[in-house]
Amino acid sequence: MPKLTVVNRTGEESTIDVEDGLTVMEAIRDNGFDELLALCGGCCSCATCHVHVDPAFADKLPAMSEDEDDLLESSDHREENSRLSCQVPFTTDLDGLKVTIAAED
Ligand code: FES
Repeated sequence: MPKLTVVNRTGEESTIDVEDGLTVMEAIRDNGFDELLALCGGCCSCATCHVHVDPAFADKLPAMSEDEDDLLESSDHREENSRLSCQVPFTTDLDGLKVTIAAED
């Protein structure tokens, strides 16, 4: 199974196996990382699933929609590698991806 490494807000890293068909947000949430609130359930309307993605995977990520871009713009912690994890399906191409849960807004 493809693996995803998640760095929490205290800097601890955990590597999890991701089932087919999940988004990065669902994989993180379903593995008990309660720092990632994902309040809207993946509808791209809350920005509480904000993560920073390992730049090495930048070209493997799906393009960002205008809605995602707008929501990220409302965050004080936006960086070049920011994404809303509910907007990133975890495909096998992303095996080994590392994401860091962004600070809370
Ligand atoms: S879960 Fe709400 S925007 Fe991603």
